[in-house]
Amino acid sequence: MSEQNSCKKILITTPIYYVNDVAHIGHAYTTIIADMLARYSRLVGYDTFFLTGTDEHGQKIAQSAEQRGKTPKEYADEVSGKFKALWDDFDISYDKFIRTTDEDHKTGVQKAFKKMLEKGDIYKGNYEGNYCVGCETFFTDAQLNDDGEGCPDCGRPTTVVKEESYFFKLSNYEDKLLELYKNNPDFILPRAKAKEIVNFVSNGLNDLSISRTSFDWGVKLPDNMDDEHVMYVWLDALMNYITALGYGTDEANMDFWPGKVHLVGKDILRFHAIFWPAFLMSLELPLPDHIAAHGWWTRDGEKMSKSKGNVVNPKEIADAYGLDGFRYFMLREVPFGQDGDFSQRALMDRINSDLGNDLGNLLNRIQGMSGKYFDFKVTSKDVVKYHQKELAEVEVILENTEEYIFNMQINRYLEDIWKVLTVANKAIGDYEPWAMMKNGREEEAMALVALITNIMARVSVLLECVMPEKISKIAQSIGITIDNDAYVSLIKNKEIIADTVITKIDALFPRIEAELLVSADVQKAETVVEKPRKESLKEKSTIEEDNIITIDQFFGTTLRIGTIVEAEEVPKSKKLLKLQVDVGEKENRQILAGIKEFYSAKELVGTQACVVANLKPAKLMGMLSEGMLLAAKDDNGLSLIRPEKAKTAGTKIS
Ligand code: ME8
Ligand code: MG
Repeated sequence: MSEQNSCKKILITTPIYYVNDVAHIGHAYTTIIADMLARYSRLVGYDTFFLTGTDEHGQKIAQSAEQRGKTPKEYADEVSGKFKALWDDFDISYDKFIRTTDEDHKTGVQKAFKKMLEKGDIYKGNYEGNYCVGCETFFTDAQLNDDGEGCPDCGRPTTVVKEESYFFKLSNYEDKLLELYKNNPDFILPRAKAKEIVNFVSNGLNDLSISRTSFDWGVKLPDNMDDEHVMYVWLDALMNYITALGYGTDEANMDFWPGKVHLVGKDILRFHAIFWPAFLMSLELPLPDHIAAHGWWTRDGEKMSKSKGNVVNPKEIADAYGLDGFRYFMLREVPFGQDGDFSQRALMDRINSDLGNDLGNLLNRIQGMSGKYFDFKVTSKDVVKYHQKELAEVEVILENTEEYIFNMQINRYLEDIWKVLTVANKAIGDYEPWAMMKNGREEEAMALVALITNIMARVSVLLECVMPEKISKIAQSIGITIDNDAYVSLIKNKEIIADTVITKIDALFPRIEAELLVSADVQKAETVVEKPRKESLKEKSTIEEDNIITIDQFFGTTLRIGTIVEAEEVPKSKKLLKLQVDVGEKENRQILAGIKEFYSAKELVGTQACVVANLKPAKLMGMLSEGMLLAAKDDNGLSLIRPEKAKTAGTKIS
């Protein structure tokens, strides 16, 4: 970022959530990502507008209200209030919470309708086709599932709709949309997702039905032009992104338009990447920079739904594990755009390992060393003299942070910050300040403590948007304040912090020994039971014929649970760790594993892994290796494959 950008205006949005459902971790995920971006954007000095809210019109809401014996407005008030209360409870830093039942929103939507009408993009006709109320989406016959009636998105039966309707000339925008995607490869993020949108549009766009007559829970057409009709809920909903800024009423905040990024789940990418830019083109408004679509959270591999009773309640998780740990987990665990499965075990591991061991423990060491050697007073005057190398390393690692943030590579952002923590933790081991103190090299020991404190300061500035509460405690403990000044000084200008006094505080991330929620994390089904989903038959086996093995061949491999009893680094090897692993035999196995870049010896001891137990022993660097650990490696690094719950050493895996 350059100085002249510092008053740049940035709009960050979440979807506005339907009020037919209570919030689960999927909604929390989108909102937490947006909150993190908004906080980051404020930190670096952008004038930021963070918008969220609720989507309250349409047939689905009308039906849900009716089932509960309430008017749609009563029902919407209730559920919208719950969303808002949850975000307030989560300290989500939204600047506006919009409701589509707000009067100024409705006025804005009517103005937009009128403008599109005047532009010649709206005409009246008859709609004949299929409608999925659950998805609030129109489908042609050809689009339906193989059974000829199921919704291609959710599988539930669609209903046949034959109504007089207004249409938006979406077909007029085909070429313009394709041009948009071509000229702006980052319009849709992650980039890989753009392909499906381009394909969809290239196959031809039908005009879009944008009004309904069979129910009346929606925004009326402008100037009472046709009282039979209410607007299609997606037209109404998408407009929130501009009506929230005052479009069509008092346009005070319209200078936040065009938006920087609309965060959405992949389920609603099509609406945002096709309809929304087409509407904006029709309104002659500029287009947002990015539509960023994240993946889907599942539970035990299945879609969360109330009827299955497997919905994860974000409030219960945050109450049990801490909000900041939950935020960190969500942002770090799954690369943006990919699907993720929620498990308490994975959450626990992140909290214990990344937050407890790497981050929390570093703060402990600062407190310990500064207290023991220097009465908690730290001066940075000799840091550059002794630690130019480490400071330079940190600088290089932190070069891409802003790019990562706005390309939605949030897990990369966090990985880099963790690399910085590794520099600090490693420096303590390398320089051994305790030995320095013994040898009367106090100046050097002070420089080392100051290095670690400076690294912690930089890390804190960058992590505050992820874990606002915990990081503000760290900042207090090392005597800094996190704000735009700190960002400019420590991150942009790479300055060294002033002399400071360390304050001792309680451990921020106490170790969690066992899952904290038994089944309480399963939200009790509130009311409506969803119709069972019809499994789509579309997905055929994709396994290559010549790649198939028999079950006997599979069982030719003996896989066992192993407990890592000892671990040490193999000297002179960049990759190898030497492990003693209990696989339930009389003696432990020695296994040499090429995982040193990803795990420290210390953190492995006491943990479990999956061991290939009947592999022919081999010698590596002159040492015997009697097995192999299962691991998965992708662009983001390597993870050992471990049992979800601790198992007796030697337990067979099948
Ligand atoms: O679609 N995993 O609202 P909605 C990840 N009102 N994210 C999930 C999720 C999951 N399992 N479940 C929900 C609507 N989400 C419209 C939006 S915007 C102009 C109108 C998140 O209540 C994700 O962000 O169905 C998804 O896109 C959104 O909730 C859908 O919320
Ligand atoms: Mg939905």
